[in-house]
Amino acid sequence: VKADPLKVMIAGAPASGKGTQCELIKTKYGLVHISAGDLLRAEIAAGTDNGKRAKEFMEKGQLVPDEIVVNMVKERLLQPDAQEKGWLLDGYPRSYSQAMALETLGIRPDIFILLDVPDELLVERVVGRRLDPVTGKIYHLKYSPPENEEISSRLTQRFDDTEEKVKLRLQTHYQNVESLLSIYDDVIVKIKGDALVDQVFAQVDEQLTSSLDKKTGMVASA
Ligand code: AP5
Repeated sequence: VKADPLKVMIAGAPASGKGTQCELIKTKYGLVHISAGDLLRAEIAAGTDNGKRAKEFMEKGQLVPDEIVVNMVKERLLQPDAQEKGWLLDGYPRSYSQAMALETLGIRPDIFILLDVPDELLVERVVGRRLDPVTGKIYHLKYSPPENEEISSRLTQRFDDTEEKVKLRLQTHYQNVESLLSIYDDVIVKIKGDALVDQVFAQVDEQLTSSLDKKTGMVASA
């Protein structure tokens, strides 16, 4: 019998390092990375009606309404690749109603990682963040600087990565995160995210390996 693939949710304040850890998790575990923020930015880039509406909320640092987000993520999650390889949901669910939409479909994670980073570090992380539009890689001018001049010259910044907007995003995060904790109580693992990227990943990796071992163990003893 083949074990079910791993199902992971990752949450945390804006710039707590979700995207950065997801890149590393994806490489090691081969899970399909589904980022709600990336899906929304793709809608914006494609100029769809949903994208236009979503942007109004993202600019205010608020949650995009469920009627846009819930189906968008659900459709991606139900694609065959995610079902076969396992998934890594990044920034979703972010509210009680989003979590309940998944519960209704019987979709639950094996593990819910909550990255914990003190607020005072988040602003600096946000304003220094840069993205490589060619590779999608996440950089930071101070903490993960680009490897060479060619990359450096093409880096872009997100429209919501200003000090003013990150404060609003942070408020939204704190208003909503509590309601998730009770739903995923049995699978939550809090990880301190204020260490070096590799040190944070070492903790994440240990937790994922242990989740995976538990699943494989269950199949082996079945
Ligand atoms: P989203 O794109 O998900 O943004 P976010 O939650 O604010 O998180 P970020 O992407 O800013 O940060 P991250 O945790 O991925 O950090 P990163 O690894 O890049 O959402 C954007 C908007 O879309 C929301 O505001 C909302 O409007 C909407 N939205 C999204 N999901 C939604 C949902 N479910 N429902 C409704 N609306 C939704 O790292 C940040 C920086 O720090 C980088 O520069 C990185 O290099 C650096 N860094 C990372 N780790 C470390 C480390 N350990 N040490 C030093 N620097 C580090």
